[in-house]
Order: sequence, then structure tokens, then C-alpha cells
Amino acid sequence: MNSKITNFIKKKNKSKIISLTAYSKNIASIIDRHCDLVLVGDSLGSVLYSFSSTKKVTLDMMIEHSISVRMGVKKSLMVVDMPHNTYRNPKEALSNAKKIISKTKCDAIKLEGGKKVVQIIKALIKSKIPVMGHLGVLPQSATNFKFKGKEIAERKIILRDSKLLEEAGVFSMVLECVESSLAKEITKTIKVPTIGIGASVHCDGQVLVTDDLIGLNKINARFVKRYSNIEKQINEAVLKFKKDVVKSKFPTKKHSY
Ligand code: KIV
Repeated sequence: MNSKITNFIKKKNKSKIISLTAYSKNIASIIDRHCDLVLVGDSLGSVLYSFSSTKKVTLDMMIEHSISVRMGVKKSLMVVDMPHNTYRNPKEALSNAKKIISKTKCDAIKLEGGKKVVQIIKALIKSKIPVMGHLGVLPQSATNFKFKGKEIAERKIILRDSKLLEEAGVFSMVLECVESSLAKEITKTIKVPTIGIGASVHCDGQVLVTDDLIGLNKINARFVKRYSNIEKQINEAVLKFKKDVVKSKFPTKKHSY
């Protein structure tokens, strides 16, 4: 395991882990100053391309966005989501993960699932590819986005899966929309950091989609807290530009040759 990953794991029980998504260089370079982990999430499918699910996101899309993000990430761990249907078996996963890593120079990949993907995770880790897991709501296969862990049977499966992923060697895992006491139990049970999104304050760290946090992507999910309204600021700036152009106040001599 490389030192960047070991240092990341050591944050468990020491300091909260800060994680956000980025899909391009400029946002990545701002959030990198404050994050431990920058995720190129396949949420870009819905956030940037208005896809109805992340299922349509392709490997090439993930690679192109990640190449841009890489230019902005200097200190954080950079993790790239493996998109839907790119890790259906160990051979496919290995070939695609190697492609992501060689083209984007990211530090690790993330994939969704529990018991079903354990052999795939083991094959990747055997080939020295650091893997982040993802349990709870799994957008690549979800039929609904209801939180997980209400029913006892479902709780047992998610807890079991978290242990299986840990045994397989993941360095961390996202818990998406997992009931609070279950997220707490998983976080206490496993030795690698849990990163929650809609999974309570008990996780070792938190992740949000940056576009949701800054008010650029208008979604109404319970787990989103909007920290700014960047849409309003962009709108005001564009309006000022428009007025200046209409009144011939821009460009001035200063902006001309
Ligand atoms: O795709 C994504 O952005 C994610 C986060 C929401 C964890 O997987």
C-alpha cells in the first residue's frame, strides 16, 4: 500500500475526513486545498449530462473528466469511480482499472457493491490497485433511492458486506444513505475509514457532490446541505456583463488593443 493511502487510513479516529466531488480542473484546484479526498464521481452523469441514472456514464467520460481533475488536485487523494458495466468480472475490471489509472494518474478507483464484487476487489488489490468500496444505496444498480438499513435482514447484509469489503482489502468505503445506527456500527466495526453521504455524523468522514453544496445543481435530497448559492452569483455577474455590453461600457480602452 502506498504512503498516501496509509496516511489516509490513519486519519480514522483522529480527524474527520473531508471529501468532495470534482469533474474538472478549476473546481478541483479549489476543493483540493481543503479536502483529504477528491472523488471523480460518476454522479457527473446526472449532474453534468442530465442522465436519468449513472448507468449511461462511460469509461471514456470518466477518463476525460479525470484528466482535467488531475490537473487541479495536488495534495488530496484522487479517486475515480468505475462506471456501470466496466467491472462485471475480474478480467474486465482489471483491464478497465488499469486504463483509468494509466490515463488519469489517479490514486485509486471506487466501485459499488458488497459480496458480489468481492472477487473483483481482490483481483484489483492483488494487482496493486487501491480500491474504495461503496455500500448502501448503489446508484449504478438501484431501483429506488430509499435509505438502507431499516429492516433487520437488510442491516445484516450491509454489515456483512462491510466486513467482506474490509477483508478484501479496500482502504475505505462510502456509505450512501445508510441508517444512522447502522452507519455507526459499521464505522465502529471496521478498521478502515467510512465516508458517509446521508449516513449520519457517525462516519469517519463526509462526502458531498460539490455542485450540490455550492448551489449549482438543484437537487432536493435530505442529505444535501447547500453552503452557497453560486448560481445567483453567476447570474448577477452575467447580467452585469450583459448590461455593460448593451450600454457599450465594455470593453473599455483598458480591455482593448
Ligand atoms: O458518484 C458520486 O459522486 C459518488 C458520491 C456521491 C459518493 O459516488
